[in-house]
Amino acid sequence: NATPDLVIVGAGIFGLTIAQQAVEKLGVNVTIIDIRDHIGGNAYSYMDPETGAEIHKYGAHLFHTSNSRVWEYVNRFTKFTDYVHRVYATHDGEVFPLPINLGTINQFFRANYTPAQAKALIDEQAGELAGTDPANLNDQGISLIGRPLYEAFIKNYTAKQWQTDPSELPASIIKRLPVRFNYNNRYFKDTWEGLPADGYTAWLERMIDDPRITVKLETDFFDETQPLNKRALLEAGVPVVYTGPVDRYFDYDLGELKWRTVDFKEVRYDEGDHFGCAVMNFSDADVPYTRAIEFKNFNPERAAEQNPNKTVVWEEYSRFANRDDEPYYPINTDEDKALYAQYKAKAADEPNVVFGGRLGTYAYYDMDQVFNQALISYEKQVEPLLKK
Ligand code: FDA
Repeated sequence: NATPDLVIVGAGIFGLTIAQQAVEKLGVNVTIIDIRDHIGGNAYSYMDPETGAEIHKYGAHLFHTSNSRVWEYVNRFTKFTDYVHRVYATHDGEVFPLPINLGTINQFFRANYTPAQAKALIDEQAGELAGTDPANLNDQGISLIGRPLYEAFIKNYTAKQWQTDPSELPASIIKRLPVRFNYNNRYFKDTWEGLPADGYTAWLERMIDDPRITVKLETDFFDETQPLNKRALLEAGVPVVYTGPVDRYFDYDLGELKWRTVDFKEVRYDEGDHFGCAVMNFSDADVPYTRAIEFKNFNPERAAEQNPNKTVVWEEYSRFANRDDEPYYPINTDEDKALYAQYKAKAADEPNVVFGGRLGTYAYYDMDQVFNQALISYEKQVEPLLKK
């Protein structure tokens, strides 16, 4: 096999977009390697034969964007369903709509407030700590939406997410808590949203359906027994796009960047629909998981192909990640930020290597942001490297 013109480490959205662009713009030969046994990175999904549900293996993925360049780009490779994301929360034996809106408020206070009345009430309740600087996340939550709603919908959920009492978490974790003074409970505010009509994996496979793109799965960039490893590629001067963890690239020599992960517990029910919605949050402390995903309900348009008597649910348990866990959400303390700044400087000095994606830049990004960054990174960083 001839040496490829470009090696991409990671077959997630960042890597696939770079590969697609390099082939389309310059006609080069690209090899993508991934340590996993599938492409798609964290956006990967698979069909569950028993229920007909499309399971998002690394947590629920909803596509939404207001970026017209990204929307046009992704529509080249898939159609989208007209799914509109809505989330509900179980609290104290009742189900409420989220994000907190007039429906949530009127149900919670057993009232028929108008928008102005509800706003006046929340402003008054949020004034409880007026004049003080929120010392921790608990105070911050109270001063944003008032104690009653904060304690019902945010406090215990956040404690479960962080495995830490919110009074011991920094206020900076929550900058704002949106409250809507109307009955709109459409979760995203973006111009476009939907799910890929024939699934994430079909969409992402289509992006790299070209004979000039080779994919090698179960291949670790750091494994020197395989030819496309870090040392060999750097020595040969082959351009590399790296979308794995930035601290791992440098052998953690400055220390480890911290992440949270999520454990998923699969539960199967002998009924067609368990929650009646795709995402149910559990805002109370007595339920140990934060939320549950009922995948069938992401694709109501597939009802005819789904099992009417069975459903599958994934409960989500959040915790701090160890090195061997899937890193999901960057913790981003001041210490982490300072450490990342040092790694970022080292990455910028690495000749022939472009760092990208959520792991390569230690950040939480939605998929549309990653598409956007990859399109820009291709133009600004990768194409110049390939033309050198
Ligand atoms: P991604 O992590 O997908 O890909 C990196 C790849 O590199 C992986 O496949 C990995 O195996 C590979 N790799 C790492 N080290 C390697 C090595 N040494 N050798 C070879 N390969 C290696 N976004 C959104 O828009 N809507 C949503 O609803 C959600 N939901 C959501 C839920 C959860 C729980 C998370 C964690 C994230 C989301 N997201 C999301 C974000 C979305 O997952 C994210 O934006 C993209 O998947 C990121 O794509 P990347 O290519 O950057 O990384």
